[in-house]
Amino acid sequence: MNVPDFDYVRHYVHKHAAIVIEPGKEYLVESRLLTLARKENIPSIEVLMESLRKDPKSHLHRRVLDAMTTNETSFFRDAHPFEALKKFILPELLEKHKVTKLINFWCGAASTGQESFSVLMTIANHFPELLNWRMSFTATDLSKDVLAQAKLGRFSQFEVNRGLPAAMLIKHFKRHGDYWEFDENLRKRVDFREMNLVEQWLPMPPMDIVFLRNVLIYFDIATKKTILGKIHDLLRPGGYLFLGGAESTINLDERFERVVLAKSTCYRRVQS
Ligand SMILES: C[S@@+](CC[C@H](N)C(=O)[O-])C[C@H]1O[C@@H](n2cnc3c(N)ncnc32)[C@H](O)[C@@H]1O
Repeated sequence: MNVPDFDYVRHYVHKHAAIVIEPGKEYLVESRLLTLARKENIPSIEVLMESLRKDPKSHLHRRVLDAMTTNETSFFRDAHPFEALKKFILPELLEKHKVTKLINFWCGAASTGQESFSVLMTIANHFPELLNWRMSFTATDLSKDVLAQAKLGRFSQFEVNRGLPAAMLIKHFKRHGDYWEFDENLRKRVDFREMNLVEQWLPMPPMDIVFLRNVLIYFDIATKKTILGKIHDLLRPGGYLFLGGAESTINLDERFERVVLAKSTCYRRVQS
């Protein structure tokens, strides 16, 4: 891939999704653009680049952003956060909100839905009474493609083989030919919405738990700070933020306290 095309794409992606693509990642951009060109019936990357340059309003720009996201995810990814929910955080919130019976979750880089559905299965298996509360569960992502799959709640054999205990598969999924479908009643609890973390956020209620895992790693420091500041304001005092294993609030926003629960590091909005 030539340098001007690579620079065009990486600057566009940085400006509109804050994702940093370092020089040296030409092979990655090239392979993602090739897949996109095939999906859009465009004969080559050169023709795709020409269309992008000719028409700045072309829908292809949005498709390039989608194509450049990394959507790697799995059920019960890293396991410990779900243990922390089960052993400490959900019991604490059940007690804290026993009068209002109101609890709010947001999953901010939801990808194809495995993370949100893992939280819901944890609730359904261990605290089913919460399902009768006024529970809101918002899950957002920049990519239309992953949200389309999440909304259907359909997973391949390969996807359910990654991290999902057999007992949960049997209890919460139905097999339909080649794919497994997540329990409709639980799936409908999640409101999957498109939202770019670096554009205006959707109106959301004060949150008790935010999952924003494995997305800050793609952003520069200023963007991480802005996003963490907005999450701080969105969380209720004492609310919890889960980040990915390579991510932290340390040196970015000191208004969170680092807490280790069930071997999982999470970040609590300081009570104030
Ligand atoms: C690696 S996945 C993480 C999925 C899940 N949170 C997990 O840890 O398994 C990162 C997700 O962040 C989304 N993403 C990347 N940039 C984004 C942005 N600017 N706004 C919203 N979502 C974004 C991608 O589309 C992708 O689905």
